[in-house]
Amino acid sequence: MSVRLADLDAHLQATAAARLADFVELLRIPSVSALPEHAGHCREAAAWIAGRLTRAGLEHVEVAETGGHPVVYADWLHADGAPTVLVYAHYDVQPDDPLEEWVKPPFDPRIEDGRVFARGAADDKSHVHMLISAAAAWLTVRGRLPVNLRFVFEGEEESGSENLDRWLAANRERLSADLAVISDTGFFEGNRPSITTGLRGMMYAQLDVTGPRQDLHSGGYGGTVRNPATVLAEIIAGLHTREGRVDVPGFYDDVRPLGEGERAEFARLPFDEADYMAEMGVDALFGEAGYSTLERRGARPTLEICGLWGGFQGEGSKTIIPARAHAKVSCRLVPDQAPRRIFEAIRTRVLELAPPGVTVDMTLINTGFASLTPIDHPATQAAARCIEEVFGQAPLFTREGGSIPVAASFESLLGLPVVLLGFMNPDCQAHGPNESMRIDNWEQGLRTTVRYWEALAALPH
Ligand code: BES
Ligand code: ZN
Repeated sequence: MSVRLADLDAHLQATAAARLADFVELLRIPSVSALPEHAGHCREAAAWIAGRLTRAGLEHVEVAETGGHPVVYADWLHADGAPTVLVYAHYDVQPDDPLEEWVKPPFDPRIEDGRVFARGAADDKSHVHMLISAAAAWLTVRGRLPVNLRFVFEGEEESGSENLDRWLAANRERLSADLAVISDTGFFEGNRPSITTGLRGMMYAQLDVTGPRQDLHSGGYGGTVRNPATVLAEIIAGLHTREGRVDVPGFYDDVRPLGEGERAEFARLPFDEADYMAEMGVDALFGEAGYSTLERRGARPTLEICGLWGGFQGEGSKTIIPARAHAKVSCRLVPDQAPRRIFEAIRTRVLELAPPGVTVDMTLINTGFASLTPIDHPATQAAARCIEEVFGQAPLFTREGGSIPVAASFESLLGLPVVLLGFMNPDCQAHGPNESMRIDNWEQGLRTTVRYWEALAALPH
């Protein structure tokens, strides 16, 4: 690696063991944003991060109230004449169920096979810690940062960033910057270095079917009333065609069609369907006809059932007609779909499918817009060069299926171009049991970030 940053590299090498131990400390805090019982843990994580930012030498460190889980803000604005970069990661994590599938408890980190296993180890505390360490390295070794930095660490990304837009809008002036860098993405299949240039949007809702006042004897009443669980199954089945298209009038109306050039880019990616299936443990792939797997994941909208419950769930048998049945439904959206319009279209269809004898409700839980970031922007190109310097391989440019609602908000509310610079390994099992971060990705990601800030200093602004 370059002589130019040899002092910083040496510092990172010398601090490796201490940084890993410190990272494990952060991973021990169960900051699950979706579950109210973890609200205190989210605050604990925010306070922990604020402490580390202060110790690293950042200024205006603040645990800022948003109405939900707090944002942690900090800045360092003494790089006269250099651009200002807003860097973002999130400290909240997904719920840890099913607990019995974890080899070790999700908040008792385990280091094995060159990886750290814990909920949030990859998504996204790896990047929270990396960003703090990158700043600490520059300030310790050089006593300065090469660019002006504003840190925004969110605590509600995994539950839909409900309060963030309001906070961004209210703090527009204080967040003025030239560029936003979001660190919450990962590499391509095979752990090939890559830069994500597209994310899908989100519409998340709950479906509730209510029938009789209470559970009924399925012999005494079976055959005489609508069963809410059966109705729910019928409604869900009615939302797709057998060929995998979403069967909701208007659902595809605003979808920006894929251009020939975009399709060629997807086709160029070195993707092995057999490896992809093996990684998931399935023997077939499925999705909307007429599109490749990568197109379906990165550039086509979907409707998925994320959870389904109602009636008897225990062992053995219990003969009832359940009074209620429920489902969690998520749609991944693409440019130019508007989440609320999609919610209304699905709700209309769901109510159409509802027969007499039950009540059907659909409630919106969260929304987010899709985003595309420009490959030819000098800040994206600079990121590509830094990745190549550290990982020894030029990154691929990929469009991912996941969502980071703030990406669209940085553009629409703050007017900032966005670069997605993240280092998760594709087999990190984000959101699933035994989530893990490869320590080599984490270390090299840190070195890339350290270089990237220097590269951005030269950016025209
Ligand atoms: N890190 C992910 C986003 C992501 C996933 C990017 C896969 C690239 C590939 C992020 O933390 C996440 O999971 N976001 C949620 C957002 C939702 C709750 C609005 C998601 O995508 O489910
Ligand atoms: Zn994430």
